[in-house]
Amino acid sequence: MASQPFLARRAEFPAVPETVLVLRLVVVSVRVPIMKDGDCVKFLQWALPPLGLQWPGYRRVRGQVCKRINRRIQALKLSGLAAYEAYLSEHATEWAALEALCSIPISRFYRDRTVFDALGDAILPELAERATARASTEVRCWSAGCASGEEPYTVSLVWNQRVWPRYPQARLAIVATDVDEHLLQRARIACYAKSSLRELPAAWIDRAFDRRNDLYCLRDHWKTGVDFRHQDIRREQPPGEFDLILCRNVAFTYFSEAVQRIVLARITERLRADGFLVIGRHESLPPGVPSLEATSALGICRKASSGVTTWEQRSGMGY
Ligand SMILES: C[S@@+](CC[C@H](N)C(=O)[O-])C[C@H]1O[C@@H](n2cnc3c(N)ncnc32)[C@H](O)[C@@H]1O
Repeated sequence: MASQPFLARRAEFPAVPETVLVLRLVVVSVRVPIMKDGDCVKFLQWALPPLGLQWPGYRRVRGQVCKRINRRIQALKLSGLAAYEAYLSEHATEWAALEALCSIPISRFYRDRTVFDALGDAILPELAERATARASTEVRCWSAGCASGEEPYTVSLVWNQRVWPRYPQARLAIVATDVDEHLLQRARIACYAKSSLRELPAAWIDRAFDRRNDLYCLRDHWKTGVDFRHQDIRREQPPGEFDLILCRNVAFTYFSEAVQRIVLARITERLRADGFLVIGRHESLPPGVPSLEATSALGICRKASSGVTTWEQRSGMGY
């Protein structure tokens, strides 16, 4: 009997027909192992630093990361987090897979609308005015960590609706980069669920999108001037200098402080003097960086020739 555990268990279910019991056992054997939140937190606190990522950035979004890790553990047919830790120690290539599981693709059009209002009211007009005074007339913008295009397309919408009519000679060129090729493909197609557009004014949706079944697809006219590129911000930056760089809800949330400093140094190098850096509404720049001042509530900074100052300090505007 001891060598036939199935038969031993069968005796516990005398009234259950054989087929039902077999089904039950199959269900039990494929059931998703339950991962406790505390265990996953401990795992992330262990695994994120070697990836150059930081735990505090993941606190709020850990649910989706833990779910993905759980699925990965099942795909590898491992028994749980301890086994996955051992697997990582034995398979160096698995770290790249884990890194991909930790990527957060959340975005939407007009996210943090006060920021885009500030861009439309003051910053883009200033850049347009400056560009028209230059021979090139081109305003160059880089959206770093652009997800499925929601952020760069919002800049394009703001520019076309609110700035270009006043500065028709100026032209906006946007380079949008992301490490996730799949998201970039979606960005090029530019069709979105209604929820991605929920913060956009209704009139803008009517003007800029075509309805295709349940999706809203950006018309080609509004995609003009947005160039998507596959790049890891930690290793590469698009060539040339920029008047405006958006690096929101990526580096200064998820990256470790050491990596933030490297990324920030490279971003500031790419900013023209008097150009603007926009970080996430709830992000701050790493402390103690020479010639940089902490950003204010909107997260818009100006690069002065002597360093970077917050836009609100210089313009006297604050939201
Ligand atoms: C939370 S989304 C933010 C999207 C947009 N910036 C916003 O604020 O709505 C983060 C994006 O950064 C991308 N990302 C993460 N690590 C990156 C890296 N090392 N280089 C470039 N993009 C990265 C992710 O693929 C994802 O699309």
